[in-house]
Amino acid sequence: MIPFFTGDALRRAVSPERALEAVREGFVAFARGEWTMPPKVYVPAYPAGDFRAMPALGGGHALLKWVTSFPGNPAQGLPTVTGLVLVSDASNGMLRAALDAAAVTTLRTGAAAVLAAETLGRPDAESASVIGVGVNGIAVARTLAARGRRPLLWDVDPGRAEAAAAEVGGEAAATREEALAADVVLTVTPGREVLFPEGSLRPGQHVSLMGADGAGNAEIAARELARVRVFCDDWEQASHGGEVAQCVELGLLGRDDVTELGDVLTGEAPGREADDEITAFDSTGLAIQDLAIALAALESAPDDLPQIPV
Ligand SMILES: NC(=O)c1ccc[n+]([C@@H]2O[C@H](COP(=O)([O-])OP(=O)(O)OC[C@H]3O[C@@H](n4cnc5c(N)ncnc54)[C@H](O)[C@@H]3O)[C@@H](O)[C@H]2O)c1
Repeated sequence: MIPFFTGDALRRAVSPERALEAVREGFVAFARGEWTMPPKVYVPAYPAGDFRAMPALGGGHALLKWVTSFPGNPAQGLPTVTGLVLVSDASNGMLRAALDAAAVTTLRTGAAAVLAAETLGRPDAESASVIGVGVNGIAVARTLAARGRRPLLWDVDPGRAEAAAAEVGGEAAATREEALAADVVLTVTPGREVLFPEGSLRPGQHVSLMGADGAGNAEIAARELARVRVFCDDWEQASHGGEVAQCVELGLLGRDDVTELGDVLTGEAPGREADDEITAFDSTGLAIQDLAIALAALESAPDDLPQIPV
């Protein structure tokens, strides 16, 4: 029998603050080569959606996240993202646990967005905003609140921003411009609209660009990203999909222009170097982040978890 972490059980086992620390440790272990991660595999089932297989190895365990993106699902009352995370013992291959993939994703996405903002934003940054407060945006807002901030929230659907503000202890922004002007801005939209056109970011700002991860989608104009200090979660993934990829295709950014977050966390590479620098973090979402959350969950598994016979 192995335990199954439903979304609720996972959220009881791993707080947003614990998730942030676990994800920090995951990025560090990956940067040091102690954890490894083969590239994620896309299995297209277009036009309906696609499946993604995301493996990782580390901390004595191996993980596989089997997760979907079916954008038309909400219209049928189904979630866009669903799937399972499987965790095995790396010494003998035995399955140890299964977890709800959507819940793992929200926890680790909130953790990475805020970890990057805390690492790369100005130490005296006061205001923090989240643009796009759907399933993952609200997790980002919850993580900011857990770190003692009162996030400013904006969504094209004003009702969502109001509801999210009430839920996490934030504030709905009066205008999009107000949210975009915060010292740190964390964006979690589908990337169908560019939020930052060329020349829009001001000196000292930090942006964590979490949303756009499909071909043709972007939250920032390529020339605006190329104008600022650029960080990513993993060069291999970021140069093939996401905000950095559009700059690579246009010849605006190359490997030496982009720093991985893990290298900043280990001290291998510099992070922000001046108060007036503009920093941007491009997140594509890594299996090592999922592994970090799964290991944290195993550490504090409640006794009453449902069991699956394997
Ligand atoms: N980087 C990562 O690790 C990671 C992890 C999870 C999801 N994502 C990506 O983040 C995006 C959002 O995912 P989700 O699951 O939260 O989706 P979702 O559909 O639940 O939420 C998206 C939200 O963005 C809002 N929105 C749409 N366009 C907007 C705009 N122009 N300005 C402001 N708000 C806008 C929508 O109203 C909605 O509330 C997707 O593209 C997804 O692929 C990235």
